[in-house]
Amino acid sequence: MLAGRLGRFAAPVSTVNKHYRRLVTTVPQVSSEGVHIKWDDDGERTTHYHNVWLRHNCHCPHCLADYNNQKTIQPAQLVNTRVTKATIEGDVVKLTWQQQGCDDGVHEGCIPLQWLKHHDYSDHQLNKKMKQAQPTPAPMGHLPEVDYDKVMDYDKVLWRWLWNLNEYGVCLVNNVPTVPGSIVKVTERIAHIQETIYGRTFQVVVQDKPINIAYTGEALSLHMDLIYYESPPGLQLLHCLRMTALVLVTRNDNSIIGGESLLLDTYPVLEELRNNYPEQFHILTRVPATFQKIHYKRESPVHIVSQVPHIVLGEHEEIVAVNWSPAFEGTLQVSPVDVEPYYQAYLLLAKLFSTSERLFQFRLLPGQLISFNNRRILHGRNSFYSEGEGVRHLEGAYVNIDEFNSRFHVLNRKFGSQPPKRVFNHSIL
Ligand code: OGA
Ligand code: ZN
Ligand code: ZN
Repeated sequence: MLAGRLGRFAAPVSTVNKHYRRLVTTVPQVSSEGVHIKWDDDGERTTHYHNVWLRHNCHCPHCLADYNNQKTIQPAQLVNTRVTKATIEGDVVKLTWQQQGCDDGVHEGCIPLQWLKHHDYSDHQLNKKMKQAQPTPAPMGHLPEVDYDKVMDYDKVLWRWLWNLNEYGVCLVNNVPTVPGSIVKVTERIAHIQETIYGRTFQVVVQDKPINIAYTGEALSLHMDLIYYESPPGLQLLHCLRMTALVLVTRNDNSIIGGESLLLDTYPVLEELRNNYPEQFHILTRVPATFQKIHYKRESPVHIVSQVPHIVLGEHEEIVAVNWSPAFEGTLQVSPVDVEPYYQAYLLLAKLFSTSERLFQFRLLPGQLISFNNRRILHGRNSFYSEGEGVRHLEGAYVNIDEFNSRFHVLNRKFGSQPPKRVFNHSIL
């Protein structure tokens, strides 16, 4: 029963139970501040857990509903509480709490040892976990790839796809049937599609009255999509339906000139900025840029404005999101003292992005689908024109990052040998 609650990455129940018994042999020490547990299997490290934290994480059926894993303990039950007794019984620590000033304030509960070890929040352990959770920069020169049929047929290959996205932020899917709607089928292997102001799926093809520059032959400089949303899509997919002339049935030829895809992993570039230009890095985490889509000359008018910094940091100074979309920047509205420092830092980062040796350029062929983390990876394309009957047609879709994460965590428990990395827009300590 408890194995299901062990946290982000649990071993199968049988090995967990064996492992439990080797975790602790000494009696936990109770003090006025909480409980100290000495871990036998980890260099005899001792961890301190606070009274209120322990009470909040009681695993007994009164505090945590077994059926849905939701907390039933109320905040008032945490007030002035302290542990009066702690003993090890098998795989769990049995705890007794006393709530001061409360007549029936005694509570007896338990917390699994492995769960406590996994959720050790000492500075040392948090730093270690943060390091392990850092993503790996996207490989330069070649993209990780999977095959459409296999993704559709095997959960293990689906997991491999999501693993690549989690680790590198990008993955190619090959041999996707070049019929409109294939992107829906393959995307729905992950989760339901996130519909946006561009529809459930969108057609990147030259149009008469384009509602976006993407629907012309113009170049798209490196950017992220829908950054003006309060919750921009975390995962983006672009499937190449056509990149050639109507009369040609074979692979891509020269009938579309240009139109190569561009990708850049912001993660190593931002770490370079942080190391070499800490002040500029800091400004871009603090001063909000304006992003907007204000467009009344379209069938369904849109008016969205948001103010967020280009780099969003989490509790441990880790990057949790990037906001970069020059074509959708609105008017900077910040304190006058911040204007010049902001622009100086902004221009520096723009230059680091556009001159990065990690910039990856390739031609997406019909039947290929590129998927990437829209809060980490920048994408763009070179301008193009067609000779004769040439058509360039991509179909796109988005998935909310939380839905991606959930699917990946679930599959990773079955197929993975390591916990998931921390992806942008999300922290999984
Ligand atoms: C887009 C886009 C890339 C391309 O539609 O947002 O970036 O290769 N398209 O056309
Ligand atoms: Zn309890
Ligand atoms: Zn785009």
